[in-house]
Amino acid sequence: MSIVTKVARKFHRKFVRSWDLYRLGHNGNRISFSIQQSVRAALKGSLTQEEVNSVDRIERLRAEMNLSTEQVTRTDFGAREQDSNLKPDEMRAGVEVIDTLGYISQVASKPPFWCLLLFKLIRTIQPDSCVEMGTAVGLSAAYQATALTLNGHGCLVSLEGAASLADIAMNNFQHLGLDSVEIVVGNFQDTLVDVLTARQPVDFVFVDGHHDEHATLAYFEQILPFLAETALLVFDDITWSEGMARAWNSIASDSRVRIAVDFGQVGLCSIDNSMKTSRYYSIPLH
Ligand SMILES: C[S@@+](CC[C@H](N)C(=O)[O-])C[C@H]1O[C@@H](n2cnc3c(N)ncnc32)[C@H](O)[C@@H]1O
Repeated sequence: MSIVTKVARKFHRKFVRSWDLYRLGHNGNRISFSIQQSVRAALKGSLTQEEVNSVDRIERLRAEMNLSTEQVTRTDFGAREQDSNLKPDEMRAGVEVIDTLGYISQVASKPPFWCLLLFKLIRTIQPDSCVEMGTAVGLSAAYQATALTLNGHGCLVSLEGAASLADIAMNNFQHLGLDSVEIVVGNFQDTLVDVLTARQPVDFVFVDGHHDEHATLAYFEQILPFLAETALLVFDDITWSEGMARAWNSIASDSRVRIAVDFGQVGLCSIDNSMKTSRYYSIPLH
């Protein structure tokens, strides 16, 4: 590819991103405007001093864990590899894996920018009932729970299949003084519906585990009946595999989804029964 084509593509990408970010905030919908404000705040890193202090504490914990050589044995109920094509029964049976805590923390956890986006979404949208699928060592949950604590209301339930990881995450929450979050241990297939039933109407869901096409579509269907009139669903790793890309395309074009935003590796949907038409935005970040 010539240098001129490269520059033109980069310019075009930047233009589409800015234009879609502008459109997102100007379609007359309150939630859409809130999403735009959250994205802008995350991109600029605009935080109050109180927010800076809280985020710094989480990032110090991340830095410590990233260096840890402690061996952790965990059961993996996920899709494992992009092209593994495991059958549902194989994933459900799980597999024992041993890694260092440092490796798990670095590979499984969402990087700071994406955690900050979740944090800003929760600060702006002010949800009461939040659910996370996939706790790992608790970093994205710590950001979300901190946002809820600073909001002064709301709670998060995070679901995790590996008991060993749930223990590490729970210790981290205690260390950070977070009491707006709890963990439910077990396979999503066994825990999700019970948690949704207990926590309905759910305002905010972060789906960050079991990145399998059919499992993701099944979780989407399971979640929908328990959502509040206006709710946000955030899907991680929508480009991780061809299957995940298909799952995201199917969710984003579902008639029940009113706003779908493709952020690149993360996809966000708004279910808003007051909106008559559906809209799609492409705002690749990082
Ligand atoms: C990508 S990690 C979550 C990272 C975390 N959200 C963060 O950013 O800090 C995904 C987690 O989901 C869990 N998981 C995957 N498939 C699961 C399933 N079917 N049931 C329960 N947990 C599952 C894994 O054990 C893993 O800890």
